[in-house]
Amino acid sequence: MSAGESFYLATPIFYVNDVPHIGHAYTEVAADLVTRWHRQSGDDTWLLTGTDEHGQKILRTAVANDTTPKAWADRLVNESWLPLLETITIANDDFIRTTDERHETAVKIFLQKLYDDGYIYSGEYEGYYCVGCEEYKQLDDLMETETGDYAGQLVCKIHSRPIEVLKEKNYFFRMSDFQQRLLDLYEENPTFVQPESVRNEIISFVKGGLSDLSISRSSFDWGIQIPWDPTHVVYVWFDALLNYISAIGYGTDDENFNRRWPATQLVGKDIARFHAVIWPAMLMAAGLQPPKQVFGHGWLLVGGEKMSKSKLTGIAPQQITDTFGADAFRYYFMRAISFGQDGSFSWEDLSARYQAELANGFGNLASRVTAMVTRYYDGVLPAPAEYSEADLAVQKVVADATSDADAAIQRLAIHESLAAIWTIVEELNGYITIQEPWVLAKADETRARLGTVLYTATEGLRALAVLLSPVIPGATAKLWAALGAEPVLGGLTAQVITDAGTWGQLPAGSAISKLEALFPRIEQDDVPA
Ligand code: MSP
Repeated sequence: MSAGESFYLATPIFYVNDVPHIGHAYTEVAADLVTRWHRQSGDDTWLLTGTDEHGQKILRTAVANDTTPKAWADRLVNESWLPLLETITIANDDFIRTTDERHETAVKIFLQKLYDDGYIYSGEYEGYYCVGCEEYKQLDDLMETETGDYAGQLVCKIHSRPIEVLKEKNYFFRMSDFQQRLLDLYEENPTFVQPESVRNEIISFVKGGLSDLSISRSSFDWGIQIPWDPTHVVYVWFDALLNYISAIGYGTDDENFNRRWPATQLVGKDIARFHAVIWPAMLMAAGLQPPKQVFGHGWLLVGGEKMSKSKLTGIAPQQITDTFGADAFRYYFMRAISFGQDGSFSWEDLSARYQAELANGFGNLASRVTAMVTRYYDGVLPAPAEYSEADLAVQKVVADATSDADAAIQRLAIHESLAAIWTIVEELNGYITIQEPWVLAKADETRARLGTVLYTATEGLRALAVLLSPVIPGATAKLWAALGAEPVLGGLTAQVITDAGTWGQLPAGSAISKLEALFPRIEQDDVPA
């Protein structure tokens, strides 16, 4: 496959104060699916993820656990965050930690440039800070609680915990200079921030006026030192946002930087402002292009609330994968929730979709078709005879699904792309019911027709394996093997996904083998409540 256009996608980098929950895994799976799709379209693809390790939140967690922040971060990265990627089969190309030397070097180069160019000045900061959010707060972001441990105090609306009053000498970034340029960016490039709900919120926020941003702290030292003033460390968000360029060689490897940048950025809508306001302003100040796009996805809700560890609604990804497997995890969240909107998680919904869509819909189809080729043709794929209207209809569904799915992925409408691919599953199941190959198998005179029907169904499975490989890489690899496709067509991930709809790729004569259930039945007693 030749290297095509650059497609660089970055996830947010995750705080290491705690272990991952399914909200974090959700961003990872979406990013992984989209990059697998682009990789299989021949794009010059790069997927970056990583961890955000500086700031007060991590420092305090480490202190509370009687350790140093670096030792704490090392432990969480090695025991929880890297294993998460395996649990949900993420094929990332790089993993950046903000404590990596390459990152610290790039942050210092970037800051020095902004300082030299007059975008940073020293001043006095007086205001509120939420350590949970690692964010400076306006009064609108706070509320006074009437009950509970913090009755009578001002608390952050997101964390329901008291904010801190800060008064210190800080360095400021002249963000207010960029208000008009940001508004122009949103106007000239309407897909820069998506979906529309997030775009509207960002535009009205920026129209309300931008203040300069305090970008340093001097009351603690867990962070990257300000190059010209070692008594200050860089504000954790300013540091963290730079990971997207430090990881691809900003300041040290221009060739790679120019090859990859700008990135498509997937973020939860709660952190869209950092990515669609502060981040492009920082880049503009440094004379760099803004990201290609910032897409703010919705929240996973549990019991109607945003899932979070601090509110004890967190569910570990492994709780799901232990019972249902990584493929089902990936499929469920990508299919059941419109990407860009909030979605509620429930074990019942997961179990129901697993059974109806993966086990009965797709898995059963794959098992039945491969079993029939094995039984009626000793596992040698028959050649099709003349195609009937019904066969041609299958071919059209496969071709349309491929182009519809691709168009949906380009818009990051991941759920729509899966729905498009699923039209093939439905078409093939209906086709087999109507064609009744088991009846055709009974008479010699319908033998040619049987061959055409089984070729059509098997070739449909070939297309499904390719189209579904970005979402269920495990099951589709097994299907690819059962189709005997590798020796004739090459590896599954080497298939060009946008060509999946071209009919007739799996040659007659391919060695088909019987497939074990791709999604075995799960007893209700095995499902956590
Ligand atoms: N460290 C910052 C990001 C810095 S990026 C330069 C951060 N980390 S986080 O660990 O708190 O969150 C990381 C991502 O997980 C965010 O995109 C956030 O929206 C996402 N999610 C956290 N909880 C979530 C849900 N309940 N549902 C969906 N996504 C959620 O913020």
